[in-house]
Amino acid sequence: MKNPYLLTQAKIEKIISETSEIKTFVLKPKESLLFATGQFIELTVPGVGEAPFTPSSSPYEVNKIEVTIMRAGFVTEKLHQMKEDEVVGIRGPYGKGYPIDKFYNKEVLILGGGVGLAPLRSFLLTLLHEVDKFKRIILCYGAKTPQDIVYKEFFPEWKKLSGLEILRSVDKANKNWKEYEGVVTILLDEVKVNTKESVAVVCGPPIMMKFGTKKLLELGHQPKNIYLSMERNMSCGIGKCGHCALGKYYVCKDGPVFTYDQIKDVSEIWV
Ligand SMILES: Cc1cc2nc3c(=O)[nH]c(=O)nc-3n(C[C@H](O)[C@H](O)[C@H](O)COP(=O)(O)OP(=O)(O)OC[C@H]3O[C@@H](n4cnc5c(N)ncnc54)[C@H](O)[C@@H]3O)c2cc1C
Ligand code: FES
Repeated sequence: MKNPYLLTQAKIEKIISETSEIKTFVLKPKESLLFATGQFIELTVPGVGEAPFTPSSSPYEVNKIEVTIMRAGFVTEKLHQMKEDEVVGIRGPYGKGYPIDKFYNKEVLILGGGVGLAPLRSFLLTLLHEVDKFKRIILCYGAKTPQDIVYKEFFPEWKKLSGLEILRSVDKANKNWKEYEGVVTILLDEVKVNTKESVAVVCGPPIMMKFGTKKLLELGHQPKNIYLSMERNMSCGIGKCGHCALGKYYVCKDGPVFTYDQIKDVSEIWV
């Protein structure tokens, strides 16, 4: 049996500065690491430590893997100081991703905030790979300011795609901003979704996940059709240490993707 803690070396091929706090790292693993969209990997900075991240690239890209990382503490700070051609370790993938086949023939509403667009970008690229299989794909994305928007270079391309509707908001606009101003949940009032034939997929900071889910429920989305990508402090990543408990679940093993129906009764769900 393969040792689940075994690391693969991965060269940092390219670093893209998304915002002052967020960078995308394009990694070239020595051995290709296949993942399903929504699963996560553990990334090690040699001599420093490791942390979990969800790939932001398409699972159909087998020769590289991208992770979009916000500076949050010790490991992420060191990662932000790393340069192209340096080497990190990766292990995984772990957990359960999005059950894409359950989304076929449905309207797929994606709701993302801040760096929460990272797993959602991988998810979106996966949907776009077989775009005809979905009734509609709608991306609602919010950031604090126009400068805080990630994947700025991709939005112009995505906006040209038929089959994908995009709405963006910022909490605080500047004079060049021509889209919505306000918290991301205001976008949900703008899109008319048939909640009988839809799924909603949400990722972002806990406060945004909380109010996003509340709003989706008010609009008639069913708890079983709201998919949340959950985060908890992790250690082993494989269901052994108990660090990532969420009610009766372990986020690393049973998630990180859960339906709201599965976890709605967990106290402190949004911490
Ligand atoms: C499944 C999963 C996928 C993730 N995907 C991404 C991603 O794609 N991009 C990204 O930028 N981040 C992602 N994260 C969050 C990322 O793992 C943390 O930001 C990282 O572990 C922080 O490590 P650090 O050593 O830099 O910070 P630390 O020095 O460990 O901590 C800094 C602060 O953040 C808190 N913290 C640490 N980990 C978490 C966590 N998981 N949730 C909430 N608070 C935490 C600590 O308690 C502390 O207050 C993901 C987390 C999980 C569990
Ligand atoms: S991180 Fe160890 S059980 Fe989930």
